[in-house]
Order: sequence, then structure tokens, then C-alpha cells
Amino acid sequence: MSVINRVLEGFGPVKRLMPAGVKRAARQALLEQTLRRAVRKVAALPEGEAPSRELLAELLTGWSNDGFAADLDYLEEVARRAGRVEGHVLECGSGLTTLLVGLLAGRRGFETWSLEHHPEWHARVGAALAEHNVPRARLALAPLKSYGEFSWYDPPLAEMPDAFQLVVCDGPPWTTPGGRYGLLPVMHGRLPEGALVLLDDANRPEEQEALQRWSDEYGVTFEMRETGEGAYAVAACGGKK
Ligand SMILES: C[S@@+](CC[C@H](N)C(=O)[O-])C[C@H]1O[C@@H](n2cnc3c(N)ncnc32)[C@H](O)[C@@H]1O
Repeated sequence: MSVINRVLEGFGPVKRLMPAGVKRAARQALLEQTLRRAVRKVAALPEGEAPSRELLAELLTGWSNDGFAADLDYLEEVARRAGRVEGHVLECGSGLTTLLVGLLAGRRGFETWSLEHHPEWHARVGAALAEHNVPRARLALAPLKSYGEFSWYDPPLAEMPDAFQLVVCDGPPWTTPGGRYGLLPVMHGRLPEGALVLLDDANRPEEQEALQRWSDEYGVTFEMRETGEGAYAVAACGGKK
């Protein structure tokens, strides 16, 4: 049973008398409180200390976007890397990871540039960044466009930094032609040798093909990391154009 359901159970017999709308509102308020508390704890961590798995689980509970949010193993990897990155961070597909990376990299002076194609989701994540005062997070509404054999975001390149050292690659959605392949053809000029790409859902056939093509065409090397729910890849850019 989730923490939120346990708290609601604490209302005992009163809970059964609550109208459905009141229960929903109480649940929503508890989730928001959980998220606020967890964000405050992440922001208060000493620099260099990564959030614990328990704290990341609290963030996930409070964010409550099951089916879309990253799993705990991927979040742990993202948090570890964002906490010690030495440069700006690019994110493909926004959400809880945007808050997490912004909190950990932003306070060290680095920008997080997140590309989001979905207008309503862009608005929701933008509101959360503002509410939680996430520093140096830039959330760009970047529609998906066709580049011929694949589709990918249309990023505001003129405004973006010249180089990114870390990419949190959890979008675009799998239904996009070419999956996440477009990252390298579109952004390789901003990804110096050694820049790391954390590719979520890397066991999907589209992403397996993307990894192979990144390796063949751009000299990317990668390792797969199995998780309870699938796999992600840690890929290093080779600087090959
Ligand atoms: C896998 S999600 C990115 C999740 C993000 N890394 C996180 O940790 O929350 C990829 C894309 O799914 C879309 N998405 C996320 N949540 C959604 C929702 N609740 N409904 C519809 N689309 C959603 C957004 O366009 C997002 O860029």
C-alpha cells in the first residue's frame, strides 16, 4: 500500500463517509505535500551528496505520474550524474527528472535545457519548476518535426549553450519515427567527446537500433544497465561527426 493510501486509511471509518470528490482532493493535497517535502530535502542536501533511494521514491510518489515517470534505477543514475556534472545538461522529454536535474546541477551553476513537445505537459512541468524554485532550468516547447528518415524535437539552437556534458534522454515517445535516434544527428555539434547520454527504455527495439547507429555513425560507446522494469544505457559520445 502506498504512503498516501496508508495516510487515507488513517481516517478509518470517516474515510468511508467521505464523498469521492473529497477523497480525491485529500489524496491530491497529500501528494503535493509529499512532493514539496521531498523537493525541500533534495535542495537541502550538501553539495556532492546524492539523494538516497528512499528520497527518490518519495519524489516519485509525490509526482504521481505512473506509466510515464522514470523508474527508481534510472532516477538514481540521473541524480548521481547530475550531482557531479561539470557542464550544462540537455534533457529530452520533461517531467520529474527536470526537477531533479535542475535541483542538483542548477545550484552548481549549470543550466538544464529540457525539450518538451507536448504543450499541456510543458505547462504542467513549467508550473512545477516555478512552484519549487528550481534554479537554472530552461524548459523549451520544442515540437517534433520530420528530418526525413526520422522525427525529433525542433530545439531553439540559437538560444542554447554551445556544449552539454550530460543528456537525460527519456523522450520523444516510442511512437516517434526513429525513436530517440535523432539526438545525435541533430545535437552532435553540441555534444563534445566524453559527454554522457543516459538513454532510458534502451531495451526497446527502436532504442537498440538507435544505439547501434549512434555507435556506427558517431563513435558512441555504451553499456546497458538492466533494471527491474527494463533497461537503460549509459552512452559516451565519441566526438566523431
Ligand atoms: C517518458 S516521459 C518523460 C518522463 C520524465 N523523464 C520523468 O522522469 O518524469 C516522455 C514524454 O511523455 C510525455 N508525458 C509525460 N507524462 C505524460 C502524461 N501524464 N500524459 C501524457 N503525456 C505525458 C511528455 O511529452 C514527455 O516528454
